[in-house]
Amino acid sequence: MEDFYNKIIENNKKWVENTLKLDPQYFERLAKGQKPPLLWIGCADSRVPANEIIGAQPGEVFVHRNIANMVIHTDMSMLSVLDYAVNVLKVKHVIVCGHYGCGGIEAAMTNKSIGLIDNWIRHIKNIYRVHKKELDNIEDISERTNRFVELNVIEQVYDLAKTSIVQNAWGTNQDLTIHGWVYGVDNGIVKDLGVNFKNDSQLDEVYKLDF
Ligand code: CO
Repeated sequence: MEDFYNKIIENNKKWVENTLKLDPQYFERLAKGQKPPLLWIGCADSRVPANEIIGAQPGEVFVHRNIANMVIHTDMSMLSVLDYAVNVLKVKHVIVCGHYGCGGIEAAMTNKSIGLIDNWIRHIKNIYRVHKKELDNIEDISERTNRFVELNVIEQVYDLAKTSIVQNAWGTNQDLTIHGWVYGVDNGIVKDLGVNFKNDSQLDEVYKLDF
């Protein structure tokens, strides 16, 4: 524990030294501000670090992470990040990135109580209920879990599209595309699930907002 703690402090010193060796103005430039083109909504899982996966540098990705990359419309933290990203930073893309082997998804498929987190996992269970027919028909449990990971991401992309923030941006012709990805923890590869929305045409009528 202490070894690990001391190591990360050391790592930071080395990182600053190496970075300045390669680019003496690196931090000066970053300190001037950020204009990232991308908002990443990902899982809190330690194996899915946004920047590394896509080869992005500091300053290129605005990041929000929670358990199972959920877009919950009463989550003030997510909404605040989304609002700032869309309305102030004017990001061009929002990616919801789930991952195979997601513990949150696995937990949602069981009945065991694991504490307060049950109340967060319940949102994921709601997604299962919507797709129960398809999922229950997949016999292999790991295949079923993988499909659930994908369906959850797709639902989160729709939930993003339903927010007043995203609809307002589209309503004012802001260039904003939202995407759904799944990351393979076992091979590092990202899969685009093909839900790439630039407007509200995919939304059920009942969710569309007039401004
Ligand atoms: Co996860």
